[in-house]
Amino acid sequence: MSVFTDATRERAREIIARYPADRSRSALLPLLHLVQSEEGYVSPAGVEFCAEVLGLNKAQVGAVATFYTMYKRRPTGDYLVSVCTNTMCNVLGGQEVYDTLAEHLGVGHDETTADGKITLEHAECLAACDYGPVMTVNYDFFDGVDPQTALGVVDELRAGGRPMPTRGARLCTLREMAVQLAGFADEREGAVADGGPGEPTLRGLRLAEQHGISVPGFDPNTPIRSKAEADRAAAEAKAEAAKPVPAPAGNAGVGEPARPERATGSTAPDVKAPDDKSPEIRAAETRQPDASTAVPDAPGTTVPVDTTPPAPRDAREAEAAGVAANAPAGDGKPAGDEAGAQQRNLSEAEAGAGANGAGSAVASETGVQK
Ligand code: FES
Repeated sequence: MSVFTDATRERAREIIARYPADRSRSALLPLLHLVQSEEGYVSPAGVEFCAEVLGLNKAQVGAVATFYTMYKRRPTGDYLVSVCTNTMCNVLGGQEVYDTLAEHLGVGHDETTADGKITLEHAECLAACDYGPVMTVNYDFFDGVDPQTALGVVDELRAGGRPMPTRGARLCTLREMAVQLAGFADEREGAVADGGPGEPTLRGLRLAEQHGISVPGFDPNTPIRSKAEADRAAAEAKAEAAKPVPAPAGNAGVGEPARPERATGSTAPDVKAPDDKSPEIRAAETRQPDASTAVPDAPGTTVPVDTTPPAPRDAREAEAAGVAANAPAGDGKPAGDEAGAQQRNLSEAEAGAGANGAGSAVASETGVQK
């Protein structure tokens, strides 16, 4: 009997449908989060499920699942507490925070408390060095922690509470977070709009304001929208873009496309595109400003410059020869990854669900290597 329900299979279909039919394997990362949301980790059954629905083999799925640390290989607690012990946080006390929690909880790295509530891990840089030392609970940030505040957070979690992260969304369980990481919205009212950005994040903005630099139309107070609101705004923007553009009076004749107007009200200075030529080429161009090809910077050397553009026929022949000589390299895809395989594999997996060895039966029928 498969541990994965019809609802999980429906969500798997939804995830796979986000990708082009011949790129279904791109759905593997969110699918791994999906199976993790069911079992709290990526179990052998989860690996087999992903392999079946994508027409991959278990080794291919396992190679991905074991590469990324966000996919857990053992049952995990409700709350994954990650303490950054990388350089910046470490010099600010991150290791002390980790050691205090490890001793208090009686667990080490990647271990879970006996009540199943907390899994502790030390993490490399969590990309919040300006808030160090930081720790995350299910990937939500607690900034500037010290041993006492960190102890307060884990004790509240073990007592059934959900402390507020310093920034970002409200806490949820690791399984609930895995659903979001699989690409499904957090449906809790206001769940993603609680926390504003921290002051270190806004430091660049403050400096820009101070020096009169601005990006037209940027509003730092723009609220984070729910998915429904974002979808509605996207539909309205699409409808607006589809409206015919009226002919401007003055700068275009009847039937001519409107010429773009320069944005008004912009305070941003015009920025010259960077000159990315090498110093050698710039030096050569200075010596021979009429040459269409830069000459080498070698004293006493005169290199003839061929300014004749290649004949179109030659270019086409060269391209055709290049294509013929460079067949695309195979990527080792199994036969089951062609268009339509995902639907067939899902159907076959469903038909076989409930019987022991269903995965093996599907594999032998579809030729998927196990
Ligand atoms: S070193 Fe801790 S967040 Fe970067």
